[in-house]
Amino acid sequence: MALPLLFLLMFSSISVSQSHRHLSLDHYAKTCPDFDRIMQEVVTPKQISNPTTAAATLRVFFHDCMVDGCDGSILIDPGTSNNTERSQEINHSLSGDAFDVVVRAKTALELACPNVVSCSDILATATRNLIKQVGGPYYPVLLGRKDSFVSMSSHVEHGLTRANSSMDKIIAIFAQKGFTVREMVALLGGGHTIGFVHCSEFASRIFNFSATSEVDPSLNPNFANRLRTLCANYKTSPDMAAFMDPISPGKFDNNLYQNLMRGLDVLPSDHLLITDPRTRALVAEYARDQNLFFTDFARAMEKVSVTGVKTGRRGEIRTNCNAFNTKA
Ligand code: HEM
Repeated sequence: MALPLLFLLMFSSISVSQSHRHLSLDHYAKTCPDFDRIMQEVVTPKQISNPTTAAATLRVFFHDCMVDGCDGSILIDPGTSNNTERSQEINHSLSGDAFDVVVRAKTALELACPNVVSCSDILATATRNLIKQVGGPYYPVLLGRKDSFVSMSSHVEHGLTRANSSMDKIIAIFAQKGFTVREMVALLGGGHTIGFVHCSEFASRIFNFSATSEVDPSLNPNFANRLRTLCANYKTSPDMAAFMDPISPGKFDNNLYQNLMRGLDVLPSDHLLITDPRTRALVAEYARDQNLFFTDFARAMEKVSVTGVKTGRRGEIRTNCNAFNTKA
């Protein structure tokens, strides 16, 4: 590689990883002083009227940050181009409530302070507020992100793993974004203590599991039977879905870890957390101590929230969160 190009790549990767230094907690103090109040006024009632909003938003935010950084690239409407992040198959199941809460907040904020607040800051703040609203920990969210100029379906595969991914692959994908195994375990426990999972994602555990067992023997038998009944027609009714956490589906808590220890977990990738020697002890630790889990989850989310953020001229403040600004 020619030296100037190497230098340029090194320089740009430094500026990418350090761009969150340009963010601050009071970024909108002068330009949009009611930012926090407006966010609360939009997000709180949305979750009350649509209780699926918290999980929906947390997943959308995670999918945004892991692919080209927390830059609102996931928000671009697939209708404007069929190769945006949302057109990638893994993102088809993202729930509309998340996009709706962002649009509502943007509409309210544009009335109060036009062209000031980015969609990526709205998504980051809505996610934090919703986690808190459903019982999770509070953490500070730095502000000042700019929205992306691109959203490419081809970038999605490099940032996200699937329900049937191996632990090696999961650890590698998180490590590539700077997350330790401990942070990954904390993030998964938080992400999968609320919300839904479609039957197709875990059908391999409850139908034709192996030559000797119809269901995964590590599942609690009654729970496995309930899942089999729920998902009996999942091929003809692909919308069928189960709760991620059957014990307290709408509450943010450390139940995923406890469920893993009792055979009440659903996703194959989550199940690896208790079988893999690199993560098993962490599951037991977080199952025992919810405060420790909350502290670690909150820190890990602070880190997620500044992953690959864009500031200055590397992004824009979108007028409409679902579309790039049109250039004059
Ligand atoms: C190994 C990494 C991960 C994998 C393989 C994974 C996979 C999945 C799958 C397959 C679903 C079900 C989607 C559906 O059927 O509609 C799901 C849902 C969800 N995931 Fe993850 N996930 C991972 C990490 C995370 C992380 C780190 C978070 C957040 C911190 C997260 C948050 C969520 C949420 C909140 C839902 C429920 C969404 C809803 O109900 O609308 N996931 N995930």
